[in-house]
Amino acid sequence: MTKTRRSAGWYGKLDRDGFIHRSWMKNQGFPDHAFDGRPVIGICNTWSELTPCNSGLRDLAEGVKRGVWEAGGFPVEFPVMSLGETQMKPTAMLFRNLLAMDVEESIRAYGIDGVVLLGGCDKTTPGQLMGAASVDLPTIVVSSGPMLNGKWKGQDIGSGTDVWKFSEAVRAGEMTLQDFMAAESGMSRSKGVCMTMGTASTMASLVEAMGMCLPTNAALPAVDSRRMALAHLTGKRIVEMVDEDIKPSDVMTREAFENAILANAAVGGSTNAVVHLLAIAGRVGVDLTLKDFELGGDIPLLVNCMPSGKYLMEDFCYAGGMPVVLNELGDRLRSAKTVLGGDISAYADGAECYNRDVIRSLDDPLKPAAGLRVLRGNLAPDGAIIKPSAATDALLEHEGEAYVFDSIEDFKANVDRDDLPVTPDTILVLKGCGPKGYPGMPEVGNMPIPKKLVQQGVRDMVRVSDARMSGTAYGTVVLHVSPEAQAGGALALVKTGDRIRLSANEGRLELLISDEELATRRAAWQPDPPHYTRGYAKMYVDHVLQADKGADLDFLVGKDTRPVTRESH
Ligand code: FES
Repeated sequence: MTKTRRSAGWYGKLDRDGFIHRSWMKNQGFPDHAFDGRPVIGICNTWSELTPCNSGLRDLAEGVKRGVWEAGGFPVEFPVMSLGETQMKPTAMLFRNLLAMDVEESIRAYGIDGVVLLGGCDKTTPGQLMGAASVDLPTIVVSSGPMLNGKWKGQDIGSGTDVWKFSEAVRAGEMTLQDFMAAESGMSRSKGVCMTMGTASTMASLVEAMGMCLPTNAALPAVDSRRMALAHLTGKRIVEMVDEDIKPSDVMTREAFENAILANAAVGGSTNAVVHLLAIAGRVGVDLTLKDFELGGDIPLLVNCMPSGKYLMEDFCYAGGMPVVLNELGDRLRSAKTVLGGDISAYADGAECYNRDVIRSLDDPLKPAAGLRVLRGNLAPDGAIIKPSAATDALLEHEGEAYVFDSIEDFKANVDRDDLPVTPDTILVLKGCGPKGYPGMPEVGNMPIPKKLVQQGVRDMVRVSDARMSGTAYGTVVLHVSPEAQAGGALALVKTGDRIRLSANEGRLELLISDEELATRRAAWQPDPPHYTRGYAKMYVDHVLQADKGADLDFLVGKDTRPVTRESH
């Protein structure tokens, strides 16, 4: 006997409403038996030509559909907002929460029983997971997969990471503009996400470490035929998951988030994982905090991929991918259920490494302790983060004089001035780029080194801001300072000439002025007038939480799994 499913509330009714729900779907040529009570599987697709990283997802949706039909389900693909990281202004992150709302309300409003999330580009994966978690129907992920390795002049070049290097080389007069332009064609040679361990591949790796996708999903190149086969298998699996009632809240438990934090350290993952994991956890009711990220502190860097290492995602795949990393983490992994219904340890079973320079062993890591460091102190009372694996070791303990840029406009107008009063020991401070100050807190925290220093050969300095940085970026960069300047955080009170002390080892970020002076400056401080006065951006600014809480909107935290009532037909 067929189990009564959620979709029966749409397609199982022998009345006017049922007629309407079925009849309109039949205009696409679906036969009667598609509505016989089989699981309806929504394929939530962020495909868009404006999101080149996700441009392969139409093909993968067909693979998922094959698997769903084969397993006796009824697949229905639907679009949601797509977030093209390199194409959207002011920043795709402004719209992560809007995508999450789109995903949540689309899943809730339609007659579906289970969901396959097709995402890839940086904000699409977390936005989709946030939305799906708030409805909590059985859900599984298929990622876009990374682009093939970039190739130029006989070298492998990596998305993002080499762009930062090339643009600094042009500014230093070490690379011609002609070469710079030629490299852009060699960098992006296929569909797929950035092939460095940027935010997209980081989030795909963490989704695998959390058990929200099938094993090997993170690293298979976008154009590898095995990814299409994985999509097919995922379509089969989601039909079984509906019958087994395995929901995001069963998989994305505290233990799963802890595994994601450990894996993020081992792969040298993006700092953006912090705001995304915090936001996803908030949707499933896991009380994850910034402090939990200290768990990764003593985890060695195992994956030798840019920006922390030298290889690319294609190499990571051929070396064995995430199953090898999970195998290396071994007993450090928490026991946690996956979308396959078993324990995450099964994802590591039998994993063999085929290139020990790409995926190191625990005994021979690239760096002994690679986890993100959480910093606190009077400059960041609610926390800030730094990624030591992508930083210059000698700068992780540093005291210097601040040079302050009050806004991104101030930075752009002045950073290349010949008379900028900075030295390699200066600490560059950028204000006004947090969630409210520059809605979406864009990836400008790895601000370029002042031109006069670049020309002297300086390639890294301590930089402090309330912004984020691209997962493909590197440097001794303190990010996500909370509270942000626009919310009245101490960052707003820093002046050029103040001394700042960074100690990554001690987890401290201190503004070396007296409490009295800080109080005097605070009393005189005024926030900038709001830049946005209408529409979604205004709603975002009015409701966004600080970075240490995941930058979700305050009214979206949590979930609502109640049945939809008050139908209108
Ligand atoms: Fe889309 Fe990097 S810009 S994944």
